Amino acid sequence: MRAQIAQRTLRTDRWWLPPLATFAGLLLISIYAAVRTFMGDHYWVDEYRYLTPMYSPCLTEECLPNAAHFGRLLPELPGFLTPPVIIIPFLLGFRVTCYYYRKAYYRAAWMSPPACAVAEPHAKYTGETRFPLIAQNLHRYFFYAASLLLLINVYDAFYAFSTGIGLGNIVLLVNVGLLAAYTLSCHSCRHIAGGRLKHFSKHPVRYWAWTQISKLNAKHMQLAWASLIFVCVTDLYVALVASGTIADLRFVN
Ligand code: FES
Repeated sequence: MRAQIAQRTLRTDRWWLPPLATFAGLLLISIYAAVRTFMGDHYWVDEYRYLTPMYSPCLTEECLPNAAHFGRLLPELPGFLTPPVIIIPFLLGFRVTCYYYRKAYYRAAWMSPPACAVAEPHAKYTGETRFPLIAQNLHRYFFYAASLLLLINVYDAFYAFSTGIGLGNIVLLVNVGLLAAYTLSCHSCRHIAGGRLKHFSKHPVRYWAWTQISKLNAKHMQLAWASLIFVCVTDLYVALVASGTIADLRFVN
């Protein structure tokens, strides 16, 4: 029950700044991801075998043959659709249902509520008990799908070392490191490791895993942002090298 005050909030600090910054950040990244998705180009550097994570795995007929590490298993997509549309629902599903991002966009976009002790504009609150928000419970299944895609990204990153070592290799490696840390720090992952146990003492391995994941889990918000931003940095680097705008800095050929 809300206190009976006429004002929307009694807070006098700049409480609107974090939700505004979150909204701006998510909007910018969404625009970048949409542009790159529908560009359908500059996602593969043949010379150094760099594949941007945004196009991995590349599974359709329009994929460049060498970029399709697992074969072009699917037919050509109709119209303006490009290969990432196959994987984006899973990656987006994982991020959108993530516990941290839920907090972020519930505050920043839906203002439900925008900040602590600031009234929300909505008259009714049903939480995540009804459609469509009840679908947030699918997070664990998106976690499984994202984990599989992460393994493919790890494969891509190591595959690129077969031509030598360049800055692109380091970028791809840092990218999978951040993605792995974000995925492992997931609340569902923590529950899979140590949930539903009555006695940790009888499950030492799961207890150990749960303890390690819990440490990462405490940094989930930071990892969510770092991994999201770095996917864009990685994609941009690959796009710039692939388009010939910059040359890859080579350490070992
Ligand atoms: Fe954020 Fe699972 S809770 S990825």
